[in-house]
Amino acid sequence: MHRRLIAPGALVAASLLLAIPASAASHSPGAPGIGDPYYPYYGNGGYDVSHYDLRLQYQPKTDELQGTATILARTTQDLSSFDLDFLLDVSEVRVNGAKAAFATAGQHELVVTPKTPLAKGTAVTVVVRYSGVPSAKSAYGFTTWHRTPDGAVAADEPEAAWWWFPSNDHPRDKATYDVSVAVPDGTQAISNGTLQSSVSKLGWTRYNWRQNKPQATYLTTLALGRFDITTGTSDGGVPVVNAYSKDLGDNDGAARASVERTGEIVDWLSGYFGPYPFGSAGGYVPNTTTGYALETQTRVYYSPKQFAGGSNTSVVVHELAHQWYGDDVSLEDWKDIWINEGFARYAQWLWSEHEGEGTTRELADYVYASHPAGDAFWTVAPGDPGADNQFDIAVYDRGALAIQALRDEIGDDAFFAVLKGWPKEHAYGNASVADFRKYAERVSGKPLAALFDTWLFQPSKPAAGTGRSLAR
Ligand code: ARG
Ligand code: ZN
Repeated sequence: MHRRLIAPGALVAASLLLAIPASAASHSPGAPGIGDPYYPYYGNGGYDVSHYDLRLQYQPKTDELQGTATILARTTQDLSSFDLDFLLDVSEVRVNGAKAAFATAGQHELVVTPKTPLAKGTAVTVVVRYSGVPSAKSAYGFTTWHRTPDGAVAADEPEAAWWWFPSNDHPRDKATYDVSVAVPDGTQAISNGTLQSSVSKLGWTRYNWRQNKPQATYLTTLALGRFDITTGTSDGGVPVVNAYSKDLGDNDGAARASVERTGEIVDWLSGYFGPYPFGSAGGYVPNTTTGYALETQTRVYYSPKQFAGGSNTSVVVHELAHQWYGDDVSLEDWKDIWINEGFARYAQWLWSEHEGEGTTRELADYVYASHPAGDAFWTVAPGDPGADNQFDIAVYDRGALAIQALRDEIGDDAFFAVLKGWPKEHAYGNASVADFRKYAERVSGKPLAALFDTWLFQPSKPAAGTGRSLAR
């Protein structure tokens, strides 16, 4: 929907304006992008973040957010300056304790120039003090900070962080998090991981959330509003924390009837994907009007719209499947989105079979037959769909068809070994579509280049029987 590329050069020109100190002759500015082919300015070059500590305060009445981000990182090159991706108003930046110069550039870059250049391979602590009204900020003409009647929500893909914390905004740089947010008494702050503590004083309550496993920036979420929070533990021992807006109206029952099955579904998915990778699971349903759900790590974002048509365990399965396929193993570049969406869709097909509502075979045949050869559906290549088609239905449905074709080609034993082995192979890391093909080839002992090319990369409908899946 809102995919776009900005004119190359816009940022280059801005960074040329920064004088490089003489003492830093051998040091150079970190790149304004991490090198993603779809989004040249997303993420940054020259450093790797290990931990974000966000200590914030939010006033729902005015949408004012303020606080401090403390970022622990390590340099990967000699740096004269480096970028963070951020949109709010910065009042001070410190690098290793000393005040640093800073400037904005491009659509969402904060350029930080430390007093002393940074040598490659050293630990760096960056403190950013900031404030602002996130809903008043936009980049490329859009905002992904979603206001609600009682607060706001940060949950979007691939952009969400710019509106609330400075970061190296790309899934390739995962980090752990402490997210601490004070809100007026009676309002709750929901984020990822485990609620370590909550403390009330002077009319404000501070919620301290911790994510102790690596997490991508776009999977880091924040919801502020009036929530009812439920807790439990799955049979498999996974603690579950869910939150429901107090204003879900007619959708309240269906939302709870779906999301309260999180523990059961996490345990069921573990049977296919291996042990649940995180220390907490759950979801939240704020009073938003957006149409999508998002696999925000350990605490899935659901729009009430997901439940307007009735209860919907299928979306819960989809988002929880992402905890392994997308969150534990994250994509390498945004072009690798099939690793996320194809498998989350296939998990919905497995659930359908489990619920007696159609087998994976029936669903694959149905999707295949639903799109005739000339259909635009087949022009989108799930293996590299383009930034504009990252969330096209073909990435999901044709993506799941490709997985069915793989299953038919390598047989159930190898297929389910791949499904379960992949999250272990790349636990808490990143991987590409090519990495997945190589892994499936290794486990199955079969060459799969032609099958992957046909189902994931050709802009046309595969002939029935390619990879045997639709042969009969
Ligand atoms: N990954 C999400 C899903 O579960 C899709 C999010 C689409 N993003 C958006 N901003 N609409 O399928
Ligand atoms: Zn998805």
